[in-house]
Amino acid sequence: MQIGRKLIHLESVDSTNNYTANLLKIEGLTSGTVILADEQFAGRGQRGAEWHVEPGLNLTFSVYLELVNLSVVNQFDLSKIVALSIVDFLSKDGIVSTIKWPNDILVKGKKISGVLIENSVSSSRPLRSIVGIGININQMEFGELNATSIRQETGQFYPIRDALFSFIEAFNQLLEALLSKPDELNERYLANLFQMNQRAWYLDAREKFEGEICGVEATGKLIILRNGEKMSYDLKEIHFL
Ligand code: BTN
Repeated sequence: MQIGRKLIHLESVDSTNNYTANLLKIEGLTSGTVILADEQFAGRGQRGAEWHVEPGLNLTFSVYLELVNLSVVNQFDLSKIVALSIVDFLSKDGIVSTIKWPNDILVKGKKISGVLIENSVSSSRPLRSIVGIGININQMEFGELNATSIRQETGQFYPIRDALFSFIEAFNQLLEALLSKPDELNERYLANLFQMNQRAWYLDAREKFEGEICGVEATGKLIILRNGEKMSYDLKEIHFL
């Protein structure tokens, strides 16, 4: 399985994830198709947030995937591959990044990329996934946001299409190398995880607490060592402070 053999390039769209979902419904899609937009006017982020970036300066795209090795049970493996491929893509430009669980990408504590994966809810195989990826490429100003871009980090302008093809290459390499090796994939994911094995402050539904990230469940839940006990949390149950 390779992504990027088919590319749909849109000037402007509400959200590439929405567009992909609609196209899938109306006429079906080949697994691996990439849908790129120069501008999104209603880009979506995790936890119902919006994804706002300056038009034409950044990568905003979705990848449609049907992966036979994946099911509802191990769907988080795709999240790990996506996050690691962004880390690998950035490292080609000498940028060192970490993965803030589940799949935000940080450079020196600032967000450079976000991922919104929407899986079909049926229990059938193969799992159908729409992987939405935003990577800040040439934007220089982020206002109040604690964010950065490749250009901010390297000082170099990076043509958007070149960036997309470089990402696609990194993703295809990792998909081939790691999709059928869950243990190695998990090891690499944890080795790049922000605050792994470090004491830090978190917030759950009730209170602030100090704990240490010690792993991730196969389902994707974050495992934190809290007062000597291993507790697991999904995205809605925990905030990093
Ligand atoms: C996040 O960090 O909250 C996730 C952001 C995901 C943004 C990308 S941009 C392309 C795709 N289309 C969307 O509407 N969202 C994702």
